[in-house]
Amino acid sequence: MALRLGDTAPNFKATTTEGEIDFYEYLGDSWGILFSHPADYTPVCTTELGRTALLKEEFAKRNVKVLAVSVDPIDKHFGWRDDINETQHCTVDFPIIADETKTVANLYDMIHPNASATATVRSLFVIGPDKLVKLMITYPASTGRNFHEVLRVIDSLQLTAKHSLATPANWQPGEDLIVVPAVSTEDAIKKFPKGVKVIKPYLRYTPQPDAQ
Ligand code: BEZ
Repeated sequence: MALRLGDTAPNFKATTTEGEIDFYEYLGDSWGILFSHPADYTPVCTTELGRTALLKEEFAKRNVKVLAVSVDPIDKHFGWRDDINETQHCTVDFPIIADETKTVANLYDMIHPNASATATVRSLFVIGPDKLVKLMITYPASTGRNFHEVLRVIDSLQLTAKHSLATPANWQPGEDLIVVPAVSTEDAIKKFPKGVKVIKPYLRYTPQPDAQ
C-alpha cells in the first residue's frame, strides 16, 4: 500500500555516490528529505540537484539531511554529477542513490505507471527524526520543485514539533503563527509569553517564539 502521512518511512540499504548507505543510519537523529528524479542527464533534474547543493547551509541550519534517488546506475550518476557541478556552479556532496532495481522507488511508490512505466515521478518526502513521514509532495517530471517552499514547510513542521504551533496560508518566517486546536487558550497564554491574539475561540495567533 502507498505510504501516507504519519507512516514509518521504510528503511533500506543502497548504493549511492557517497558509498553504501543504510537510510536510517544516514539520517541518524536528523530530519531527512528523500526526493526522486525521473532520470540522469535530464534538464529539470539537473537544476534541482544543483539548487539543493546550493542550499546546503539552509538544510544544515535546519538539521536536515538530503538524499536523491534516480533509477540509473552509479557510473552514470558520477558523470551526471560532474555536469551538475559544472552547469549549476555548485558541489553536489549529498548522496544520489543508484536505484537500478527500483527498490527505493517501489518502497516509496515513486513510479506512477500512468505517468511513466519506468521513470520515477518527482516525489519528495520529509521524514522526521522519529522516522515518520511528515510531508509528501509529488510533481510531474516537467515541473521543477520550488525549494523555497520545501524550506518553508520544514520551518513549519519544526515549529509544530517544537512549539505546538501551526502556520497559516502563505506564512513566511517571522509572521504570526496559529496556536494548534489541541492547546487551550488558557494554556496558550502561559506557553507563549509574546502574547496570544484570540480572533475566534478556534483562531488564535501568536508571534513566532524564536524570531528576533
Ligand atoms: C526532466 O527531468 O528534466 C524532464 C523529464 C521529463 C520531461 C521534461 C523534463
